[in-house]
Amino acid sequence: MKTALITGIDRGIGRALAEKFLAEGYAVIGTSLSGEINLTHQNLSVYQLDLSSPKNIASCVQSISQNTKGIDILINNAGILLDKEETKVIVDKLRKTLEVNLIGTIDFTERLVSSINAGGHIVNISSTAGSLEYAGEAKSHYPYHYPDYKISKAALNMYARTLALRMKEKNIIVSSVHPGWVRTEIGGECADVSPEEAAEEIFKTAISRPETGQFWFKGEKLPW
Ligand SMILES: NC(=O)c1ccc[n+]([C@@H]2O[C@H](COP(=O)([O-])OP(=O)(O)OC[C@H]3O[C@@H](n4cnc5c(N)ncnc54)[C@H](OP(=O)(O)O)[C@@H]3O)[C@@H](O)[C@H]2O)c1
Repeated sequence: MKTALITGIDRGIGRALAEKFLAEGYAVIGTSLSGEINLTHQNLSVYQLDLSSPKNIASCVQSISQNTKGIDILINNAGILLDKEETKVIVDKLRKTLEVNLIGTIDFTERLVSSINAGGHIVNISSTAGSLEYAGEAKSHYPYHYPDYKISKAALNMYARTLALRMKEKNIIVSSVHPGWVRTEIGGECADVSPEEAAEEIFKTAISRPETGQFWFKGEKLPW
């Protein structure tokens, strides 16, 4: 049985991903801020993870590593959007956003890398909000909004790109994936994609062997 580790499975896209992977016969290791979720399954185990706490990241990875034989797919899904209504950088919010979306996610991944099986896939849930190409007035629906979030996802994209090079010798693929505009707390209720539809597409990409170090949406390459 293959194993997928997905961060942030208590709600939103992460929840739909956990349900999809379980339905497809994977063992799922999930995380939530509280360590508890209202989903039970014989192939599901849940760990408490707060990506803003280095100490917590270290102990979470230690527990996961002790209890698993190896991870085939890691999906770094957990993330925050604190500046939805802002049009200028608020340094406090930027710090908090980077701590979770970037530094905590990198810390978690780096500590886990030795537990990821050769032939595995690391998927970072990013966003077109982090695309430099899409940042101009012509291509962005919200060119002025949420700069902190955009900065965090642009930097996360660079992490995927650099990690992809390092992981080549272990034959581990690294991808950035845009999930679409999804009806969750982050996406809001007007978004055009359900979490389940987003999860279907992310699942397809995660179980495939795409070119490493690329940015994907529904199997198509996105510009950085
Ligand atoms: N929705 C969209 O339109 C959209 C578009 C592009 C990209 N994305 C990305 O998709 C991913 C999932 O977001 P979503 O839309 O499903 O939003 P969501 O419903 O708000 O879910 C966010 C998830 O992140 C977890 N989380 C928040 N802070 C955390 C922390 N400090 N440590 C660990 N986990 C934490 C939450 O855990 P708890 O439930 O335990 O609090 C929750 O599971 C994010 O990376 C987001 O940036 C979303």
